[in-house]
Amino acid sequence: MVDFKIDNVLKRIEDQEKFEQENPHDMLNSEKVLAIGRNTGIFYNILLQSISAKKILEIGMSVGYSTIWFAEAIKKNPNGKIITIDQNKKKIERAKKNFNDAGVSDLIEIRIGDALEVLSEINDELNSSESLDFVFIDADKERYTQYFDAVIPLVKPGGLIGADNILYPKRFQKFTNLYVNHVRKKQNIRSVTIPIDNGEELSIKLS
Ligand SMILES: C[S@@+](CC[C@H](N)C(=O)[O-])C[C@H]1O[C@@H](n2cnc3c(N)ncnc32)[C@H](O)[C@@H]1O
Repeated sequence: MVDFKIDNVLKRIEDQEKFEQENPHDMLNSEKVLAIGRNTGIFYNILLQSISAKKILEIGMSVGYSTIWFAEAIKKNPNGKIITIDQNKKKIERAKKNFNDAGVSDLIEIRIGDALEVLSEINDELNSSESLDFVFIDADKERYTQYFDAVIPLVKPGGLIGADNILYPKRFQKFTNLYVNHVRKKQNIRSVTIPIDNGEELSIKLS
């Protein structure tokens, strides 16, 4: 069972997304929720609980749907923390309200700005120490490989990296294929595509 407050917010965002999909021309793309599917949320939630994840980094938060699924997975962990990045001010305001309503704000630190710049700051702050249990990549698809290379020094051996939209929408496949080929060439990475919702590339850092 998902906590009542959390479930209410998740369902509210799902309703917003359904409305956007049914009325695609009523809203600018930059204002759309564009969240992972519910099954993907449940998938990562189970995965994060099974590895007792503590520290999570998300690249591409939008209004916080995926972030809330991650928060639900780590909320009982006293050291649980999520750093999440986005550059869209309107979405950040919506995410803050969603986190507040879901009662998970204390677990989440929002970093505002261009993801590559923020990642460089985070790298400095963490001194490249391998402290992250999970990284989720879901921002501009053109830069997935750059995001992967920027975060990999920060991931613990045994830590996981997930990336969304590997299979759909088809217009992203040019970039996500590059990402998949890129990660699978790395010696210390094992990786597989999971055909759930829009398709997830799930990778483990072996050493
Ligand atoms: C697909 S949405 C993220 C959805 C979210 N992970 C979820 O499932 O609920 C992508 C988000 O990435 C953000 N984004 C895109 N490019 C970015 C960049 N270069 N730096 C920071 N954020 C970026 C967009 O503003 C957008 O909110």
